[in-house]
Amino acid sequence: MTDPRIADALAILRENDHGSYTVPTQGLYPFQWNWDSCLTALGFAHFDEARAWTEIGTLFAHQWEDGMVPHIVFHVADDGYFPGPDVWRTGRKVPTSGITQPPVAGFALNRLFERATDRAAAEAQVRTLLPRVAAWHEWFFRCRDPEGTGLVAIIHPWESGRDNSIDWDAPLDRVPTDGVEPFARRDTLHARPEHRPTQAQYERYIALVQSFRDLKWNNERLGNASSFRVVDPGFNAILFRSCADLARLADALGETATAERSRMLAQRGLAALDTLWSDRHEQYLCFDRVARALIDSPSVGGLLPVFAAVPKARAAAIAERINRLGERARYIVPSHDPHAPDYDGKRYWRGPLWLIVNYMIADGLGAAGEAETADRIVHDSLVLIDRAGFAEYYDPETGEPCGGGRFTWTAAMVIEFLSRPLAVV
Ligand code: DGY
Repeated sequence: MTDPRIADALAILRENDHGSYTVPTQGLYPFQWNWDSCLTALGFAHFDEARAWTEIGTLFAHQWEDGMVPHIVFHVADDGYFPGPDVWRTGRKVPTSGITQPPVAGFALNRLFERATDRAAAEAQVRTLLPRVAAWHEWFFRCRDPEGTGLVAIIHPWESGRDNSIDWDAPLDRVPTDGVEPFARRDTLHARPEHRPTQAQYERYIALVQSFRDLKWNNERLGNASSFRVVDPGFNAILFRSCADLARLADALGETATAERSRMLAQRGLAALDTLWSDRHEQYLCFDRVARALIDSPSVGGLLPVFAAVPKARAAAIAERINRLGERARYIVPSHDPHAPDYDGKRYWRGPLWLIVNYMIADGLGAAGEAETADRIVHDSLVLIDRAGFAEYYDPETGEPCGGGRFTWTAAMVIEFLSRPLAVV
C-alpha cells in the first residue's frame, strides 16, 4: 500500500503548482525560485514526468543571455514579497532577480533522465536543456572564478541559499549600508520574525542588490566588484556534482565535447575543494575572497561537499562528524553545530535542519558507502514530517516546525525518501 505521506506530499505539490512552475509556499514565496524548482521536479517525476520537465524548462526559459540562471523569476505581480522587481530592476521582459542560486539543475536533469519511463521525451528534453545547463556552468567559471582557481564565489548570501548562515556574518558586516533606500520587509508578515534573518542582515542584502544595480547587472564586472565574495564549499560541491552528472548525460547523448569539458571542470574543482578542508573541524570551511582567509564557522555548508565525489576518507570523516552532531542535536543534520557560539535552532540557516540538505547529504553518503549515517538522516527527516508536518525547516533539538508551512520542496524530498532507496552513483 502506498504510504499516506506520499499522498499528503503530492497534495502540497499540486496546491503550490501554477501550471508551468511551482511556488515554494503560498504567501512567503509567491514566485518561482531556482533550486526549489529543480528539486521539486524530482518529486513531480514520480507522478507526471512531463510536469517535471516543464518545471525545469520554465526556469531555463528565463536564463540570461550571458548564461546566468536567476534565483527568482517574477512570473506574476505580487506585493506580498520583498524585494520585488521594482528593487531588482534587471530590465528583463519577464522580471527576474539578478543573482543566481546553487546549481542543482545538472544533477536534477540527470536523475530525471535516468528514471524516465518515456525515453523519447526525456531525450528530447535533455537535448534542449543540456547546452543551457552547460552555459550556466561556464558562466560560473567565467564570472565567479576570474583567477581560474577551479572554485567559484558567491557575491550575495542569497546565492548560497543559506541566506543568514553564521558563515556570512563577518563578510556581511563589511558591506557598507550607507545609501540603502528605505524598505518594508514582507517576510515577517508571513513567518515568525524570530525564525527569519535580522533587520541588520536585510539592510546588507539590499545594499548589495543596490550596488549590483548601480553596475547595471554586468556580470563580467560583478564577480570582482562585489564587497561580498565568498567561496562556499557546499555551493561548489553542488556545482561539481552537476558538472559530473552533465558529463554523464552528454556521454549518453554522444555530446563528447560537453562531456569532456564538464568532467574536467568537476575534477579540477574537486581537487581545489580540498584546500578548504579543516582538520580541526573535520569538515570543509568557507573561504572569504575579500579577506583572503578561511571562515572559522562549522556550518552544514562544510558537510554538503559529500554530495560530490570527494575522496572516500573525506566522506568517512563527514559521516563521523554528522554522527557526533547527532549527539548534540536530537535530529540531524543541523545547519550549524549546536555547540558553536551564535547557533540558533530556530533562525533559518543558523541551526535549523532542512530536508533538501538532508537529501543531498544522504545521497552523497549513500554513494560513498556510508549507509548507516545516510539511513539515520532519512529516518530523522521522516520522523519530523510525522511529528511536525511539511515545514520549511525544523528546530533540530525540539523538532518544532519553523518558517513557512506546506512547503513544496520539503514535500518533494519526502516523495523521494519514500519512493525509492537512495541512489548509489
Ligand atoms: C528570501 O527572500 O528569504 C529568499 O531566501 C531570498 O531568495
